[in-house]
Amino acid sequence: MLEYRNVEARYGGFTALRDITFSVAPGERVAIFGHNGAGKTTLLRCGMGDVDEVSGSVTYNGEAIITGSVYRNARRGIGFVPQGHNVFRDLNVAQNLKMAGLLHDHAYIEEIYRLFPVLLERRAQIAGSLSGGQQQMLAVAMALMTRPTILMLDEPTTGLAPIIVQDMFRSLMEINRTTGTALVLVEQNVAAALRIVERAIVLKTGGIIFDGPSAELARQEDMWRWF
Ligand SMILES: Nc1ncnc2c1ncn2[C@@H]1O[C@H](COP(=O)(O)OP(=O)(O)OP(=O)(O)O)[C@@H](O)[C@H]1O
Ligand SMILES: [Mg+2]
Repeated sequence: MLEYRNVEARYGGFTALRDITFSVAPGERVAIFGHNGAGKTTLLRCGMGDVDEVSGSVTYNGEAIITGSVYRNARRGIGFVPQGHNVFRDLNVAQNLKMAGLLHDHAYIEEIYRLFPVLLERRAQIAGSLSGGQQQMLAVAMALMTRPTILMLDEPTTGLAPIIVQDMFRSLMEINRTTGTALVLVEQNVAAALRIVERAIVLKTGGIIFDGPSAELARQEDMWRWF
């Protein structure tokens, strides 16, 4: 379980998050929404130990997240797909997956190809020449190669056509269902994301203004004013 308790994050004199308390249960699917600059990326980075000035506590399965050591946190089972396409553009698909899974069982690559058939089809193609959607699939697949028990994704569908967004969400649901990996999904595609998560959190200027079942958020008549 990933647990944030009274977390405050600062960049120099600027407070990006304040009094953040919530937790993500094993296998749970949670979406994080909010305006540009609300603190969504910062929230995920705190979970990876990637923000230097943090107070309060972030723990994973009861142990503190190690500030400044993303790699060690990742090895404990926290996967992260950063904002923007993060693939090795000059390597092909299969090489990208092998790089991402260096410490792990290479046989797992077959499982990844089952989850993302398009990557199997394109395994010899240079990643830089994949479409935007395919590159995002590859970025998610690379994070999965570390066999995370929780996967945090920072706007994985930005810039993708609605039909490709649906493909991405279908793959995420499949990952969640077959591996039990919890999902923490930062999204701008609010309506679509609400259909695949159980719970939603809304951030506004660094604070949580909603945390509850996704169906409850979808029912809020003034929900759209928050975005
Ligand atoms: N490295 C940094 N140094 C200084 N300020 C930062 C830094 N990173 C983020 N911030 C500030 O912290 C606030 C929250 O940023 P964050 O990236 O977490 O927002 P976000 O909700 O992910 O926004 P977006 O939807 O645009 O990705 C913003 O005001 C941003 O300018
Ligand atoms: Mg962001």
